[in-house]
Amino acid sequence: MSLAAAPGDLHGHHAVITGGAQGIGLAIARRYLRSGASVSLWDVSASKLDEAVNALAAPGRVQALVVDVRDEAQVMQAAQRSLAALGAVTVLVNNAGVLGPTVNTWETTPADWRNVLEINLTGAYLCCRALVPQMLGIATPARRVINIASVAGKEGNAMNAAYSASKAGLIALTKSLAKELATAGVLVNCITPSAADTAVFAGIPPEHREQLDKILLARVPMGRFVEVDEVAAMAAWLASADCSFSTGAVFDITGGRSVY
Ligand SMILES: NC(=O)c1ccc[n+]([C@@H]2O[C@H](COP(=O)([O-])OP(=O)(O)OC[C@H]3O[C@@H](n4cnc5c(N)ncnc54)[C@H](O)[C@@H]3O)[C@@H](O)[C@H]2O)c1
Repeated sequence: MSLAAAPGDLHGHHAVITGGAQGIGLAIARRYLRSGASVSLWDVSASKLDEAVNALAAPGRVQALVVDVRDEAQVMQAAQRSLAALGAVTVLVNNAGVLGPTVNTWETTPADWRNVLEINLTGAYLCCRALVPQMLGIATPARRVINIASVAGKEGNAMNAAYSASKAGLIALTKSLAKELATAGVLVNCITPSAADTAVFAGIPPEHREQLDKILLARVPMGRFVEVDEVAAMAAWLASADCSFSTGAVFDITGGRSVY
């Protein structure tokens, strides 16, 4: 087994981070850069990508590509461009996600249902399809797929059925792919955070936001939102050689909310 020289070291790694222009994805990018990796940010928002690249201030180690993870052709093309720009991709973080409307299941429109599933679940599958084959061709360093799921995928949140179902699907995708790759040196894990105070809640009307915060935080024994840097720290460990015997696993980061 070959372990990195320093704990958490990511020198020599190239990570693709979907939805990397803000929030949790951007925090992961910042953390990976600090640990020595280069990063390709794939995001649907050109303006947020520009802001992210400026904020990261790591020329030569950051690539930003406008990619809609729902689109098979865009994903395949982005994979080629990332490989050409920064070399073999050793880490894929499937992080792009949307909450979708907060309404009862029967009030969810088929278009909204499909959109949430397409971004949160099919998008992750398309990125794995585009990048896992080239990961299999790399001998070292350690290769990783990290899926950003949610505690909603374990518990099923009322008024967010499409979101919860997409995240439950992402947990199952993690387990299936992990078994397929278990002896190939590609470890596949997912993270299930509780609520983080990011733009994912931007669509919630202000008059509902205070009540929603109370509901969300009442479920968390530690009584607060998870910080994006806390999720990034877990994603950094999962990407590093320090994580060597975990695959198909679901890593809880919920301040005590999850009991399994
Ligand atoms: N914030 C939370 O409370 C929370 C909790 C658990 C899990 N998560 C998950 O963490 C991930 C990141 O969430 P966040 O809170 O940072 O949200 P965010 O809204 O701040 O960031 C999501 C990013 O995904 C991008 N994106 C959306 N649709 C896309 C598409 N079709 N193609 C490419 N990029 C797309 C957005 O432009 C944005 O930059 C999501 O998968 C989310 O479900 C968030």
